Amino acid sequence: MEPAESLNHQKAKRSTVKVREMTIDDLADVFHMGEKLFLADKAPNTYRAWDEYEVTDLFYSDTEFCLVAEYEDRIVGFALGTTISKSRSAWKYGYLLWLGVLPDFQRKGIAEKLFQRFKHLMLQENVRILVVDTEADNLKALSFFRHQGFGNPQEHIFLSTNLDPERQRMNIKKRINGSG
Ligand SMILES: CC(C)(COP(=O)(O)OP(=O)(O)OC[C@H]1O[C@@H](n2cnc3c(N)ncnc32)[C@H](O)[C@@H]1OP(=O)(O)O)[C@@H](O)C(=O)NCCC(=O)NCCS
Repeated sequence: MEPAESLNHQKAKRSTVKVREMTIDDLADVFHMGEKLFLADKAPNTYRAWDEYEVTDLFYSDTEFCLVAEYEDRIVGFALGTTISKSRSAWKYGYLLWLGVLPDFQRKGIAEKLFQRFKHLMLQENVRILVVDTEADNLKALSFFRHQGFGNPQEHIFLSTNLDPERQRMNIKKRINGSG
C-alpha cells in the first residue's frame, strides 16, 4: 500500500503524523516542498517570495515557530511563522507566513494538526491576534482558514513600481504621451 493511500485509511488515526519543531536537517526538504506548492500554484504571498533566503531567514530568526509534520520519517507538511510586536501597542501579533502539505497528503487533517500546534505556541507567547494571508483565489487555503475560525477578511491590493531610473523615465514619458 502506498504511504498516502495507507494514511487515507488511517484518517481517524492522526497520531500517525508527528508534528515537531523544524531542525536544520529539514531545511532542504521544506524548501523543495515549498517550491512545488508555492511556485506551481503561484506564490500565495505576493510580497514575499518563496526562496532559500525566506526559509533560512525564518528558520534562524524564529526556529521555535517553524514546525514540520512527519510521516514515516518523511516530511509531509510545514508551518512557518513569526510574532510581531508594535512599539505603541500592548498587543502582540502572531503571523503564520507559510503553511503547506504535500498534495498526496492533503485533506487528511495534517495542516490542522500543524496549525493547532502553531496556535498553542502563539498562546504561550501571549499573542492576542493571529494573522494569515493568502491570494484571494486560493480557495483551498481560504476554506482551511475559515475552518480554523478565521474571519474578517481584509482586501489589499499590492501595487509595485520599478525604481530603476531608466524605467521611471519611460513611465513618465508614457504618462505624458497618454499611453500609460
Ligand atoms: C491549504 C492546505 C495547507 C490545507 O492542508 P490540508 O492538510 O489538506 O488541510 P486539512 O486536511 O487539515 O483540512 C482541514 C479542513 O480545512 C478545509 N479544507 C482543507 N483543504 C480543503 C480543500 N481543498 N477544499 C475545501 N476545504 C478544504 C476543510 O474544512 C478541512 O476539513 P475536512 O477535510 O474535514 O473537510 C493545503 O491545501 C496546501 O498545502 N495548499 C498549498 C499551499 C497553500 O496554499 N498554503 C496556504 C497559504 S500559505
